[in-house]
Amino acid sequence: MKGTRVGIVGAGNVGATVAYSLAMRGVCHEIILRDNKIDRAKGMALDMSQAANAARQHTVVSVAEDMSELTDCDIVIITAGSPRKPGMSRDDLLMINAAIMKEVVLDIKKYSPNAILIPVTNPLDAMVYVALKATGWDRNRVVGMAGILDSARMAHFIFEKVKYGAGQIRASVMGGHGDDMVPLPRFSTIAGVPLTDLLSDEEIEEIVEKTRNGGAEIVSYLKTGSAYYAPAKSTAIMVEAILNNTKQIFPCAVLLDGEYGYKDVVSGIPVALGSNGVEKFIEVSLNEKQAKNFEKSCNSVKALIDTLHKNNFFDDIG
Ligand code: NAI
Ligand code: 2OP
Repeated sequence: MKGTRVGIVGAGNVGATVAYSLAMRGVCHEIILRDNKIDRAKGMALDMSQAANAARQHTVVSVAEDMSELTDCDIVIITAGSPRKPGMSRDDLLMINAAIMKEVVLDIKKYSPNAILIPVTNPLDAMVYVALKATGWDRNRVVGMAGILDSARMAHFIFEKVKYGAGQIRASVMGGHGDDMVPLPRFSTIAGVPLTDLLSDEEIEEIVEKTRNGGAEIVSYLKTGSAYYAPAKSTAIMVEAILNNTKQIFPCAVLLDGEYGYKDVVSGIPVALGSNGVEKFIEVSLNEKQAKNFEKSCNSVKALIDTLHKNNFFDDIG
């Protein structure tokens, strides 16, 4: 029987930590790291394969020295790109990372034609759009990571505020992975108890703002890069759901095709993940305020996509 193969393009902070997280749980048989820094990737691959042995897991980590060696993967995670630096918005990264994403996914299309793609590179929603347009693949196969991370951050800030329920908090964030993301207190609970029954409007607003600023807060401390433990774990959770065909629901960045009234834009919505990637695109009823915030977030992503179009970014894609 063919073993499960996960490719990771970009073995920097996030990519390497995803690999480590998958290897420690034996989520797949093989992990193939691809990075421009080949020797660094080789060192990490050896170290992680040895760590897998220490953890009594079967996962083997290797390196693709060239994209042509990243063959027949079931899933490819893309974290290649430049991370956010202090004072830099996610959107500043648009043109640099779009070019990297296009080049990488065209190679993946060639060498791992049946893969499911998990873009992580920022600005995330625009990168998912680039990956979709460049590959021409169905939207269920290109699923961006951000919503699980943003929801985990919100859950953390809820715990900080109430000081109970750790591990029982289910927070919900939709929309793009940007300053206009849409935290949804109305759909957030502690062991099933609605957040709106536990906290005042002011307290909830504080949590919403902290969630929106969650990535920037970590950048301000790390100074030379951005968060990677929670982003990596969130990505690993998606891999596990897809490989095990769990069909569990997670917020992920996907191309909307009429859902919530939008088309041809990528945004974070709840989806069920399984062996086909997205098994179901889920529409929840948003109240007026939530719908307005979601619209604002979609418009921000649309502006990035428009910038790509204005720069003729897609002209060479057939
Ligand atoms: P990093 O700088 O540690 O890693 C990026 C890696 O990509 C580097 O090792 C670099 O050598 C490699 N790389 C660059 N171009 C490449 C190419 N063409 N082929 C192969 N490898 C290439 O950055 P980090 O912290 O791992 O972040 C990666 C990306 O993920 C950034 O764009 C960051 O903003 C984004 N990010 C997104 C999150 C999300 O929620 N979607 C959360 C955290 C980070
Ligand atoms: C984060 O939210 C930089 O998007 C990344 O940490």
